[in-house]
Amino acid sequence: MTAQIIDGNSIAKSLRADIAEEVRRWRADGKRLPGLAVILVGNDPASEVYVRGKRRDCDEVGFHSEVQHLSANVTQQDLEERIRVLNEDASIDGILVQTPLPEHIDEDRVIDCIDPAKDVDGFHAYNIGLLALRRPAFRSCTPKGVMLLLEAIGVEPRGMDAAVIGASNHVGRPMGLELLLAGCTVTTAHKFTRDIADKIRLADIVVSAVGKPGLVPADWIKPGAIVIDIGITRGENNKLYGDVQFDAVKEVASWITPVPGGVGPMTRVALLQNTLQAARSQHALKAQLSEQDG
Ligand code: GUN
Repeated sequence: MTAQIIDGNSIAKSLRADIAEEVRRWRADGKRLPGLAVILVGNDPASEVYVRGKRRDCDEVGFHSEVQHLSANVTQQDLEERIRVLNEDASIDGILVQTPLPEHIDEDRVIDCIDPAKDVDGFHAYNIGLLALRRPAFRSCTPKGVMLLLEAIGVEPRGMDAAVIGASNHVGRPMGLELLLAGCTVTTAHKFTRDIADKIRLADIVVSAVGKPGLVPADWIKPGAIVIDIGITRGENNKLYGDVQFDAVKEVASWITPVPGGVGPMTRVALLQNTLQAARSQHALKAQLSEQDG
């Protein structure tokens, strides 16, 4: 079997066109446009590239966006204060603090400061909790992007066995919760997992989110499985590598995502969807309040 390649770029493009269309309607109705604020701390080159991409995406669909680029020496207190100001800013629907943050910053406390109603990354404990309780509000962008990919290729995950490799707070854990919500039986493998190959080999859907090039060989994959590669590592030659041994695994899987051009564009489009969702909620809240006043 040779797998079909899942083209994240073209799926994301079509979803961006839907968002742009909705923004055009808002503009025609004279509504305030969705606004995203990104906080970038320091000069990590990869983060700068990601933030530029987010800005470009916002421009393409017609969102308002702003970037606050802070020094790597910013204090925890100053960073938290910036977030509190954005929480109160009526022109901003979504707030994203680009990670990784410098060592001296406590990332958990930073995320705790973001108003959950503006947490378009879906990183806040409140939003992760809602996902765990089957009441998703803002869903973490990469796992949400993966679910959008599965939907786009016509997969019905209910009843399938799924394996997630990697148990990080921002990706692996919410990915498992998404698949569970969709009705999969989920195994999450991590650095303490024993006999990992035997466990992954049972899965109909394999999602790898580790960031170790070549981690997943073909003999971990059940014939016909769907393989989603979230890992992305930049090699010395500036080339991007996924976790999955793509050339070998594509001979076993039924569907596979490439790196780049698979999950990456879907993470970005999920952020746009979340920002639009936040703006819709803000408009609805405003309408409700003005009705009460009037
Ligand atoms: N760093 C790399 N990807 C992301 C992302 O999706 N959100 C945030 N906040 N930081 C990131």
